[in-house]
Amino acid sequence: MDASLDEKFGLLGLTFDDVLLLPGESDVVPSAAEPRSRVSRRVEVAVPLLSSAMDTVTESRMAIAMARQGGLGVLHRNLSAEEQATQVDLVKRSEAGMVTHPVTCGPEATLAEVDVLCRHYRISGVPVVDADATLLGIVTNRDLRFETDRSRLVRDVMTPLPLVTAPVGIAPDDAMALLARHKVEKLPLVDGAGRLRGLITVKDFVKREQYPLATKDDAGRLRVAAAVGIFDDAWKRAMLLVEAGVDVVVVDMAHGHSRAVLDMVARLKAEPAAASVDVVGGNVATRAAAQALVDAGVDGVKVGVGPGSICTTRVVAGVGVPQVTAIAEAAAACAPAGVPVVGDGGLQHSGDIAKALVAGADTVMLGSLLAGCEESPGELVFSNGKQYKSYRGMGSLGAQQTRTGTRSFSKDRYFQNDVSSTEQFVPEGVEGLVPYRGRLAAVAHQLVGGLRQSMFYCGAATVPQLKERGRFVRITAAGLKESHPHDVQMVLEAPNYSGR
Ligand code: XMP
Repeated sequence: MDASLDEKFGLLGLTFDDVLLLPGESDVVPSAAEPRSRVSRRVEVAVPLLSSAMDTVTESRMAIAMARQGGLGVLHRNLSAEEQATQVDLVKRSEAGMVTHPVTCGPEATLAEVDVLCRHYRISGVPVVDADATLLGIVTNRDLRFETDRSRLVRDVMTPLPLVTAPVGIAPDDAMALLARHKVEKLPLVDGAGRLRGLITVKDFVKREQYPLATKDDAGRLRVAAAVGIFDDAWKRAMLLVEAGVDVVVVDMAHGHSRAVLDMVARLKAEPAAASVDVVGGNVATRAAAQALVDAGVDGVKVGVGPGSICTTRVVAGVGVPQVTAIAEAAAACAPAGVPVVGDGGLQHSGDIAKALVAGADTVMLGSLLAGCEESPGELVFSNGKQYKSYRGMGSLGAQQTRTGTRSFSKDRYFQNDVSSTEQFVPEGVEGLVPYRGRLAAVAHQLVGGLRQSMFYCGAATVPQLKERGRFVRITAAGLKESHPHDVQMVLEAPNYSGR
């Protein structure tokens, strides 16, 4: 090819199905492989998995489940800023060494109102406080269970003072000993004036043992990320999320190589109120775009233009870069700057996780692989006797109509917020169904288990070693055919393989 054509056609684009990892000499057994990695400059995860910021994948329930498994959920933004901040709050309150701002009620609340609170926050009881936060008592399941009249007032039903309480700053072991000695499940923390300052619950101790890999902040609360855009209320939204305690703000646009995205990243990085929050920017698919984000001061770069299972960007716009090449190109700019890369979209099997990491990613973001989980938003759908959950692109027509039927907040991801009617909108995604997969814990176990096997085959004890030592072999269509089960009729479904 002459030089000008070479410049025009440039790269060969490869994706997951174009490559396999070469087996390497190995002393690593899968169970000893360490899949710990980084989402962004300051946020570590025990497993390198993120759930997509999509309204059929990540709301608070999925974000809680992801963090418990050692990954991270990115809350979608196809809802109002206030609703999204509430989701952050739900995650941050869900599990903590100490709940710093416990949900409370006043003595004049009705039992029906307490029911609503408990259901909303998935908790089993609340401390009762007066207007200046002085602890008056506690109302829990035990007080509520046999009450048939839900119009009764809390003050008539609660367990009043004196309660077992402790001072703020009590050591976890001492708190556990107090809970055990008094056979109670909640320990309100009070200051010298008797005002409620926090809460420790036995549930949190149990969860700490149950989820040893959980992704937590310095205060012992689960970590959560949330997506924002760049238009309209994006700044207000970001500040509400920061106020609610979000750990990572993801500036999430279909095309991250644009001045407005870079400005948003730079503005967030310069905002003192957001100093403790990491900023991930995207999406990009080229080295130059990743470099521009790095130059803007980003803490993590999200890569993927059109690889997603529900994406139609590559056919609607004819634009994109096959994902393995896109990750490698972005990593070429990010790695020297110490900025982690998120490989977003296009993963179909657990083996694709290690391929993404060897290409240069530090974590991967999953949509279709997680949309079928119990914890993803949406109801089960029955079709031909099988169970499914709905899954749709954020650029699909359906996402223009939110689940609750209110205004859509997702079209600006595709830079079409100036389009007022649905008929005028140019979709870049489709809507569909994915098989129901059960609990995230089981799904994540298979995904991480696959990654551990990859690390064993590649002789890599850690993710940095995998990235350094991993080598690809490029394969042909015949090689891909050989990779999948062939010449048999499958009679039993494996938990980690679904046919093509
Ligand atoms: P997978 O392959 O895991 O991909 O299902 C999830 C990722 O796809 C992106 N996404 C979209 N891309 N049109 C697009 O071009 C869409 O409607 C759309 N919705 C989501 C997103 O990056 C997600 O994490």
